[in-house]
Amino acid sequence: VKEDIYTPVLIVGSGPAGLTTALALSRMGVPHIVLNRYPTTAHTPRAHIVNQRTLEIMRALGLEDRILAHAIPNELMANNVWFMSMAGEEVVRTPAWGGGEEQLSAYRKASPSLICNLPQHELEPMLVEAIEAAGVGDIRFGHEFMRFEQDEDGVTAHVTHRASGRSYTIRCDYLIGADGARSRVMEQAGLALEGEGGLGQICFTWIRADLSRYVEHRPGVLYWRVDFTTAPEEGGSFICVKPWNEWIVSWVIDPARPFDPKDRSVLETRVRAAIGDRTTPFEIIDASVWSVNRLYAPEYRQGRVLCMGDAVHRHPPTNGLGQNTSIADAFNLAWKLKFVLDGKAGSSLLDTYSAERAPIGRQIVERANRTLFEMGAIPAAIGIVPGQSTEDRWERVLTLSDDTEEARARRAALDEAVKLQDFGFNAIGVELGYRYRVGARVDDGTPEPIPPGPSDICYQATTWPGARLPHAWIELGRRTVSTLDVVGHGRFVLLTGPGGGAPWRAAAEQARERTGVQITVHEIGTSHGMLRDPLLQWRAVREVSDNGAVLVRPDAHVAWRAATADQASKLPAVMAELLRL
Ligand code: FDA
Repeated sequence: VKEDIYTPVLIVGSGPAGLTTALALSRMGVPHIVLNRYPTTAHTPRAHIVNQRTLEIMRALGLEDRILAHAIPNELMANNVWFMSMAGEEVVRTPAWGGGEEQLSAYRKASPSLICNLPQHELEPMLVEAIEAAGVGDIRFGHEFMRFEQDEDGVTAHVTHRASGRSYTIRCDYLIGADGARSRVMEQAGLALEGEGGLGQICFTWIRADLSRYVEHRPGVLYWRVDFTTAPEEGGSFICVKPWNEWIVSWVIDPARPFDPKDRSVLETRVRAAIGDRTTPFEIIDASVWSVNRLYAPEYRQGRVLCMGDAVHRHPPTNGLGQNTSIADAFNLAWKLKFVLDGKAGSSLLDTYSAERAPIGRQIVERANRTLFEMGAIPAAIGIVPGQSTEDRWERVLTLSDDTEEARARRAALDEAVKLQDFGFNAIGVELGYRYRVGARVDDGTPEPIPPGPSDICYQATTWPGARLPHAWIELGRRTVSTLDVVGHGRFVLLTGPGGGAPWRAAAEQARERTGVQITVHEIGTSHGMLRDPLLQWRAVREVSDNGAVLVRPDAHVAWRAATADQASKLPAVMAELLRL
């Protein structure tokens, strides 16, 4: 164990947030140290939905192909099934994760990648391997962060090597608190959380059981007991870990009754009830208890300390946004750290991290909790209410397709409850459509475009400053690539078209003279250029004229845009403003 060392960036935590920060810094050549108090990465499945934005980020970091090779593909995720048990009556199926007929084209059009499912305990080792292969960072397992002191020039962190008990210090320019829902960094930095914690507890029981015969004809990653909100003790819902023989069975813990996740007989009874037959063999691998929170931090930065992931947003797993949002936090911060450390941006660029990400964190916390409530609409619609006996609940389900006025009314109510589920499970607007309204963006004076439908479930491609760059398939030589593939890699990129090359290149050179930052200029769709727009997809979403320009940040969000080349002379001032110089 080396003592009293220096690193530019010290990352506490090797969960999805910490590891993504480390990989993004590795790709930009920024040395860093990552600490994890445990000897390994996550040892249980935990988060699993890998949404389109995360795949785009992993694509930029060179890990997308590996993830897709191991993940459950989108076509096996399309159903959320609502039933009495795996073997029991099915009530309804709702489309999920952009895989339903209605949603698929919107999801395909919006991104080069479709949502997939990969459990966290498989994703984390991939990130670790990629970081190790890059050879820039130093990941230390079994090293616990204890406390820090910060001064004007840096932060000193006190660390304990757990196996030997030896303590040492690490001096860094920036300390990243990616240390999860019990963040010590947040607490010591005095960063507050708003909302409420401890709203309930959920038990996750990880099992091995071949359930093919119950699911192959209705593939999905989430299978819900329709009475899960009213009778949690009857067993739980299923998350697919591996098709179709590894699962998480989860249920809400009744606070009025003592519950011990180590009590195998209780776990076995509930898993058996959730499967709903007497014969399917299963093996319990592990069980853990998870707290339901509604907590978000209004501020992610305190001086040289920046927090991310579950440290700053804590919520139930509904919507599958915990890991995805943590990864997006990391990708937002990494390039800003690089620019500040290189002296190419003022340190107040780091304030934009909090200004941009904190509203998103709050939104996903509120939504995850609201979705839990809206899921209760399905049992409520068919007449399943708290306090009913098992017989009564079955009666509600078994009479649902009766030819009676009463059953017709319940079926109509079910239609409405089903529609609500899109807000939780097909929320492309939330996943991809978020926009940074303040932060590292320069306004172009145009109003923010309003999506044609509810903003949670409707994605509208736009180059409005602060939005993620729209995806369009273009051609590079004879290769088909996404617009997202020609930006990033630690650079600012300016996209223009016919007639824009000369004026924008000259402006980029003036911006470099003023700020020291090189801007890569790409002309898309010019007859002599490398990048073509054969399907006119870029033309359809770029919202500027041929010789206008879209300036894109290293994290693929639009920084600024200009309708025409007449505004090219503004570029140096725009860059200086963006970089807080
Ligand atoms: P994360 O908690 O993953 O990582 C924190 C890291 O910090 C760990 O490496 C930890 O060891 C380290 N650490 C903490 N204190 C330290 C210290 N003092 N010194 C050194 N290291 C320290 N989400 C979801 O969307 N869907 C789901 O189904 C689930 N299911 C689920 C089940 C269970 C059992 C858990 C615990 C969590 C989930 N989650 C989830 C939440 C999801 O796992 C979570 O949103 C992400 O892991 C957040 O990533 P972070 O990197 O922010 O924290």
